[in-house]
Amino acid sequence: MSRDFAAIPKLELHLHLEGAAPPAFIRAQAKRKGVDLSGIFDETGAYKYDGFVDFLRVYEAACTVLTTPQDFHDLTLAVLEQSASHGVIYSEAFLSPDFCGGGDLGAWRDYMAAIQTAAATAEAQMGVTLRGCITCIRHFGPEKARVIARCAQETAGDFITGFGIAGDENAGELADFTYSFDAAREAGLGLTAHAGEWRGPSELRAALKHLRVSRIGHGVRAIDDPLLVDHLAETGTVLEVCPGSNVALGVYPSLRAHPIEQLRAAGVAVTVSTDDPPFFHTDMSAEYAGLSHAFGWEQEHFTALAQTALSAAFCDAATKHRLSDRLETA
Ligand code: ADE
Ligand code: ZN
Repeated sequence: MSRDFAAIPKLELHLHLEGAAPPAFIRAQAKRKGVDLSGIFDETGAYKYDGFVDFLRVYEAACTVLTTPQDFHDLTLAVLEQSASHGVIYSEAFLSPDFCGGGDLGAWRDYMAAIQTAAATAEAQMGVTLRGCITCIRHFGPEKARVIARCAQETAGDFITGFGIAGDENAGELADFTYSFDAAREAGLGLTAHAGEWRGPSELRAALKHLRVSRIGHGVRAIDDPLLVDHLAETGTVLEVCPGSNVALGVYPSLRAHPIEQLRAAGVAVTVSTDDPPFFHTDMSAEYAGLSHAFGWEQEHFTALAQTALSAAFCDAATKHRLSDRLETA
């Protein structure tokens, strides 16, 4: 008998809000605004890209039709509806002021308010809690990141609880972003960095040394260095692993070849997320089903994922208590 993976309560720590936009949503926005985005979709209507750098191009092209706070309100509702339908009770989404007013603080406040309004509706109607992790974009450079860190500093609070960096891992060096991460840390934000998705173990070491993050986005290439794996396990560094994303983008040829089970067995704190679900034809139920089929993961593994994500989440203690109660009653 096949399991109902959607029924398992889940916490997702690594989801890009714009990257979760259903293609139909982006097409509707493009049509309304008279923008021709036909080149970024295939004949089935799915996003079309060829490799990671092209994925980033298509992603940014889709973002060009998200131009108002109302667009982000509607996007947030659409995304959380999907998440809730797959059993997600808590989602920490990467929010990018770069795509919400270009980093202007006043504009960002308006976009954030719209996202928060949608999040309150989703919480009341669908039982999914959203928190925001502001992310700078690596290939936009360290100077732009400082502007984004200022948005993070100024809006840190109950809703904005984290700061991170995404984008092209092959662009520049993480050490160049130290100033922005120091600023975010001083504002009380939790810290995470995309590292070890494309570059090897030295990139995780740079994230730990220079940015002093408690979580790493992807981080799967740690597997190439047993000493680093031990270090991650000893320090309790949490990996936001996105297996479906890694397979879709070609980081690993198949789920069976993915190192998540080896990392877990070595004592590394792993969590599971979707990254950009429609781009990778995935969702949280599919991720859990895949792990069950590829590695024989069962309820105890899924319970551990939720507990690890709960303790690594950047939200406040009261929110964690509420989520813990929901996990217990589930
Ligand atoms: N932004 C959205 N998805 C990403 C990924 N998988 N890696 C880096 N940046 C991203
Ligand atoms: Zn990501």
